Amino acid sequence: MSVRPRVLIHGASGRMGQVLLRLAAGRDDLHVVAAVSGRAPKQRVVDGVPYFGASELGGVPEFDVAIDFSLPEGFDVLLATCVKRKAALVSGTTGLDDGQRAALYAAAATIPVLWASNFSLGVAVLQDLVARAAALLPGWDCDIVESHHTRKVDAPSGTALTLGEAAAGQGADPHYASIRAGDIVGEHLVQFTGIGERVELVHRATNRDIFAGGALHVATRLPGRAPGRHTIADLLVSALA
Ligand SMILES: NC(=O)c1ccc[n+]([C@@H]2O[C@H](COP(=O)([O-])OP(=O)(O)OC[C@H]3O[C@@H](n4cnc5c(N)ncnc54)[C@H](OP(=O)(O)O)[C@@H]3O)[C@@H](O)[C@H]2O)c1
Repeated sequence: MSVRPRVLIHGASGRMGQVLLRLAAGRDDLHVVAAVSGRAPKQRVVDGVPYFGASELGGVPEFDVAIDFSLPEGFDVLLATCVKRKAALVSGTTGLDDGQRAALYAAAATIPVLWASNFSLGVAVLQDLVARAAALLPGWDCDIVESHHTRKVDAPSGTALTLGEAAAGQGADPHYASIRAGDIVGEHLVQFTGIGERVELVHRATNRDIFAGGALHVATRLPGRAPGRHTIADLLVSALA
């Protein structure tokens, strides 16, 4: 592996992909060698980065780590390519089905992988707070309300499900509600309701840079690590705390 990891951005034409490419261009601790979208792009090289369509994935240059913010439709081929190339995978794609999750975990036997429903430091802290609140408030109702822009395809959001798992792990029984409105980047409210009182824990993302910055940070640290399922807490929270 090169000291400065060679990075493939998967989902490059999307909202997240565009932010990843912009932020990556300003960093000297990694090097984007390929940008991949679903459809083959009209422009083949942009700012020195070669662009590819999903059907051309087999022909991309060598890379050390793929950063994937795309759609579940493209996940299987990307995962197989990472395994074949012995490259690490950082994925934030939500809405993966059970078979795709199983394939990701199986791939972790041979490559380092990190999937997270949310790459922001604030949500990592929120997850911890939710688990603690659930443990301290047995028997209280637990409701998770998530709000996103109208073009988000999956619901409840991956982050809401991750927060729900944190609560359920401490005995809560979370229920979910989803709002799709305007251009909301991402908001998550976790409320615990008892008789006569309510605790509300909330995170509001106002800018996609927080997710992209977290994913790029992780991508500089994952290549060269042992194969396995790495966590956002290991690679993001401990580094920034
Ligand atoms: N974990 C986190 O922190 C976090 C934060 C934000 C978003 N997300 C998730 O990240 C994903 C992307 O979000 P977004 O808002 O950027 O979506 P988006 O704007 O719809 O972009 C989707 C991207 O995926 C590409 N794509 C579609 N089908 C593909 C295929 N078969 N193979 C390869 N690429 C394909 C699209 O290419 P074309 O334009 O050519 O179709 C586009 O580049 C979603 O799952 C979202 O929930 C996660």
